[in-house]
Amino acid sequence: MLQQAPIGIFDSGIGGLTVARAIANLLPGESILYVGDTAHLPYGEKSPEAVQHYALRITTFLLNQSCKALVIACNTASALAYLQVARLVNGRIPVINVIDPIVAAVAADAALHKVGIIGTRATIRSHVYDQKLKQLRPDIETVSLATALLASMIEEGFYNNQVSRTIIENYLRYPDFMDIDALILACTHYPLIRAEVEQFFQHSVKVFDSTGPVAQQLAQQLAMRRQLAPPGDANHRFYVTDYTESFEKTTQLFFGRAVHLEPLPLWD
Ligand code: DGL
Repeated sequence: MLQQAPIGIFDSGIGGLTVARAIANLLPGESILYVGDTAHLPYGEKSPEAVQHYALRITTFLLNQSCKALVIACNTASALAYLQVARLVNGRIPVINVIDPIVAAVAADAALHKVGIIGTRATIRSHVYDQKLKQLRPDIETVSLATALLASMIEEGFYNNQVSRTIIENYLRYPDFMDIDALILACTHYPLIRAEVEQFFQHSVKVFDSTGPVAQQLAQQLAMRRQLAPPGDANHRFYVTDYTESFEKTTQLFFGRAVHLEPLPLWD
């Protein structure tokens, strides 16, 4: 029965669909239950207390839906609320954040010595990437930059065009980034601008995003517990806490195909 249970995934909005997409591609038999907390977007500008409050409420909902695993598909919520969420879940199901799998991948690459990080203000201010990387690789120097405009720019459909190129260049011309070996895209919206970032550095900087490593970590956790779904029809549900048509239109960009969003009145 547990094998058929859905995987709960949440984000502040629809950026986390990039992670959901990687999971659906790697594990096509798995059903996804996605919550985008669009009523509180953007998390990147909220206090830790507010993000923790939202994350715990969504986690309670996903636990009540009998999810067999939980993926926090948002760097901001992973940075500010992972411990609180894990405490609430209390080992009943695996909880995967989007930070640890990238940190492990970066730390495993012995060729890296100076790593840049871009993300929301809240993620960068938390210094969670710097701290976790230092624990595994004290020799790696980290430099980080809040790129607050990028998530809303992407959500508005501005990527792979003149506007996005100008804004991305303005951020990445940051002097501390001139001699980095790698850059972490510490926001679940950023896989959509990965190619532009690689282009800016003329492919001389290794770019990391969480989508692949998170999907792989989830697959490992489910396999270990013998909870992988058998092949068959996956049944995905996508909820948003504040429905607008424009969110529905944007799902195509993030999930790779249009999905139907259902309103979820979590905050009534
Ligand atoms: N998807 C969120 C993240 O990964 C960014 C958007 C927001 O600020 O809510 O941090």
